[in-house]
Amino acid sequence: MEIKNEPSYVDARKRSREKIKIISDAYIMDNEISKIGVGKKYHIITYGCQANVRDSETYAAILEDMSYTKTDNMDDADLILLNTCSIRENAHNKVFGMLGRIKHLKETTKPDLITVVGGCMCQEEAVVKEFEKKYKWIDVVFGTHNIQNLAKLISESIDKNELIIEVFSKEGDVIENLPVRRENKYKAFINIMYGCDKFCTYCIVPYTRGKQRSRRMGDILSEVKECIKEGYKEVTLLGQNVNAYGKDLDSNLSFAVLLEEVAKTNIPRIRFMTSHPWDFTDEMIDVISKYDNIMPYIHLPVQSGNDRILKLMGRRYTKEEYLKLFDKIKSKIKNAAITTDIIVGYPSETEEEFNDTLDVVNYCKYDGAFTFIFSPRENTPASRMEDDVTLEEKRDRLARLNEVVNKYYKENNEKLIDKVVPVLIEGPSEKDKNLYSGYTDTMKLVNVKCDKEDIGNIINVRIIDAKTWSLDGEKVDE
Ligand code: 5AD
Ligand code: SF4
Repeated sequence: MEIKNEPSYVDARKRSREKIKIISDAYIMDNEISKIGVGKKYHIITYGCQANVRDSETYAAILEDMSYTKTDNMDDADLILLNTCSIRENAHNKVFGMLGRIKHLKETTKPDLITVVGGCMCQEEAVVKEFEKKYKWIDVVFGTHNIQNLAKLISESIDKNELIIEVFSKEGDVIENLPVRRENKYKAFINIMYGCDKFCTYCIVPYTRGKQRSRRMGDILSEVKECIKEGYKEVTLLGQNVNAYGKDLDSNLSFAVLLEEVAKTNIPRIRFMTSHPWDFTDEMIDVISKYDNIMPYIHLPVQSGNDRILKLMGRRYTKEEYLKLFDKIKSKIKNAAITTDIIVGYPSETEEEFNDTLDVVNYCKYDGAFTFIFSPRENTPASRMEDDVTLEEKRDRLARLNEVVNKYYKENNEKLIDKVVPVLIEGPSEKDKNLYSGYTDTMKLVNVKCDKEDIGNIINVRIIDAKTWSLDGEKVDE
C-alpha cells in the first residue's frame, strides 16, 4: 500500500482568502498510459448528485483516453470505478455493500479486476482509514481534487500491484482541460462552480468538495456553445449553490449575468441546480422570466419550516422570508414549478416544529420534494448536537410528510390534464416499449405516444392522464 496523501478533517474545513488558481494544462495523457486499456472494459457506478454524474462523465473520458471501452455489465468489466457520495448514511452503506460484491467478483471470476474508488467518501478521513485497514485489495483511492491524476494513479497501481491512495484536503483549484464523455445526447450537465462555503451545520459537502470556486464565464459559455454544435437541446448549469456564482471572481459578476449570457446563446433549454433561498436575487427572477429558453423550474430547498431549526441548521433565512421569496417567484415567473428538499428529525426537533414544516408544504404545494431523515455526518456541527428524537419518531414524521408531499405531486400533475406542454423526447419509455419519454419545461416526466423521429426534439404534447410520479400524453400537431 502506498499512501501519497490522506484526507484531513482539519484541512478540509480551512478557507483562506487566497485567489483560486485556474489551471488549463493539468490533465496530460502519457503515450504509454494511453494504451493500458487496449482490449479491456470499464464500468462506472455513480452514487449521489449531478456533480457526481458530471464527474463520472470525466472519469469515463479519461478511461477511454487510456483505451478502455465501456461496458454496462459490471461482471464483464476489467476495471470498476465507484464514484461515491457522503451525503447520508445510506449512501455510505450502498458503497460498502457494492465493495463486498466487487471483492467477491475478484475472488471468483475476475482475479485481475482493477477497483478504483473516488468521489466524496474518499474525502472523509474515517472512510479512508477504513479502506487502509480492511480494503487493501482496492487498487486506487482518489479524491475530488485530483481527478487530473486518475490515469497516472491507475498506471502506478498496476505497475506496483498495490493500493495507491491519493486524496488532497484542500480548498481546490479550477481545472479547465479535463475531458468529458457525456451520457446523454440531448441534455448536458455543465459545471459553473465547484465547492461550497455555506457550511450548513448538517452538511458534509463543504468538506468533501472544498471552497466555492467559480469557473470563468468565458469557459462556461464555450462549453455551452460546444454543446450546441454537438446538437444538445438542453444544458443544466451545476453548482452546490448557483446563486453565489461569480462572487469569488469579480464583484460585477453574478448568476443573473451568467444566466442571461447563456440564454443569449439560444440553446433551447436551460436549467440550473441548486439554488439557496438566501441569495436568490430579484435580478435572477427577472432574467428567468425574461427568456423563454430558461425553464420555469426552480429547485429551492427549504429544509425545515421552523425558525429555530432553520437557525440550528445555519440556513440564514426564516420561514417568513422563504415564503416571501416563494410568492415572488410564483408571481413573477409564469407557470413556475418549484421543488424542494426537506430534512425531518433534526436533533431536538419537536412535534410542533415538525408541524411548521408541514405548514410550509401545505402553503407551497410543491411540484416535488426530496425528503430525508437527518443523518449525522462525521465531523459536522450537527453530528455533535444533542438529539432526543427517537428513530421511530423520525420515521413517522417522514411518512407523514411524504403523504402530504405526494398528495400535491399528484394534484399538480392532474392540473395538467388536457393541457398542451412542451416535452424534450429522450428515447423509448422504460414503462412501455411503444411509448417515448421525456421531460416538460417544468421537469415532469411524461410517457408520450409519438414517433421514433421525435427523439431529440422538443414537441407539443397533450396530457391525457396523471399519476403521482409521471404523466401520460400524446403528440399534437402545431
Ligand atoms: N442528513 C439528511 N439529509 C441531508 N441533506 C444534506 N445533508 C443531510 C444530512 N446530513 C439533504 C438536504 C440537501 C440534500 C441534497 O440532501 O436536504 O438539500
Ligand atoms: Fe453526495 Fe454531496 Fe458529494 Fe454530491 S456533493 S456526491 S450529494 S456528498
